[in-house]
Amino acid sequence: MVAMTKKAILLAGGAGSRLFPLTQIVCKQLLPVYDKPMICYPLATLMLGGLREILVISTPKDLPVLRNFLGDGRQLGIKLDYAEQPKPEGIAQAFLIGAKFVEDRGVSLILGDNIFYGKLDFFREALALKRGACVFGYQVRDPQRYGVIEFDESGRAISLEEKPHNPRSQFAVPGLYVYDQRVVEFCQALKPSARGEIEITDLNRRYLENGELQVKRLGRGIAWLDTGTPTSLLEASNYIATIEHRQGMKIACLEEIALRMGFIQADALSSLIDRLPKGDYRDYLQRVADDGPIPR
Ligand code: TTP
Repeated sequence: MVAMTKKAILLAGGAGSRLFPLTQIVCKQLLPVYDKPMICYPLATLMLGGLREILVISTPKDLPVLRNFLGDGRQLGIKLDYAEQPKPEGIAQAFLIGAKFVEDRGVSLILGDNIFYGKLDFFREALALKRGACVFGYQVRDPQRYGVIEFDESGRAISLEEKPHNPRSQFAVPGLYVYDQRVVEFCQALKPSARGEIEITDLNRRYLENGELQVKRLGRGIAWLDTGTPTSLLEASNYIATIEHRQGMKIACLEEIALRMGFIQADALSSLIDRLPKGDYRDYLQRVADDGPIPR
């Protein structure tokens, strides 16, 4: 029997307080990262993983703007649904809000402010998982800002802590996760933490304690950027600009990805290009269309 492709949730709410006053006008995920809105990057990651049924969750204020930008996804050969998170009450709340959407399928979750650049095989392998959950470990200079994972000498994950004062390792858990279909049931059993959030780290710990959490360490060849502060946002923009200028190729150009993944065909791309304003983005897509769908 062929395993059913997983669904995906893109969580794009939050308070964005560290980016105030930028986030007074629009939500963090619509701020520019160099030449496109931030949300394009996590959406590109999901699409490159082959995921086409995606629930976008955001605040009641921002959801209509995101919907206006991305629509129902048909133009990209994907299906986008939308749901509100009335208050930022935790990352794992995404599975309670999305319970009906997830149904009895496995699901991947990505945070709207996480950017991955590099070979995404680690994600595709994780998506093939049938039972349990998979998270990643990425070495950072400042692990206390994140969920931190500790490994024993054999490389097995042994503990998970949320924003610890004294981190037991340098390995942070990025905002990209893969779960089997029990995720909703497990979340329903979680209690809010002292800060009033349904914690993703508590969910991951539940799988860890069951012996069902895979942790893949990401090598230094993968760039994982987060964009939560003015400095990290600027660094992410500079990073994307540097690579795009050097290679002459765009990162997270959703229409290009849709074509290369076979989600849309050449004629659909052409009619999409016709509707774009004149400029670099349109010229770039025209070059992609002229070259034909070279595999990703
Ligand atoms: P955070 O960086 O933890 O929070 P934030 O975006 O609210 O920013 P700040 O800390 O400056 O106030 O969130 C990481 C991502 O997860 C971000 O894309 C927002 C999203 N998020 C939600 O959508 N809902 C939530 O309840 C939480 C905690 C985060």
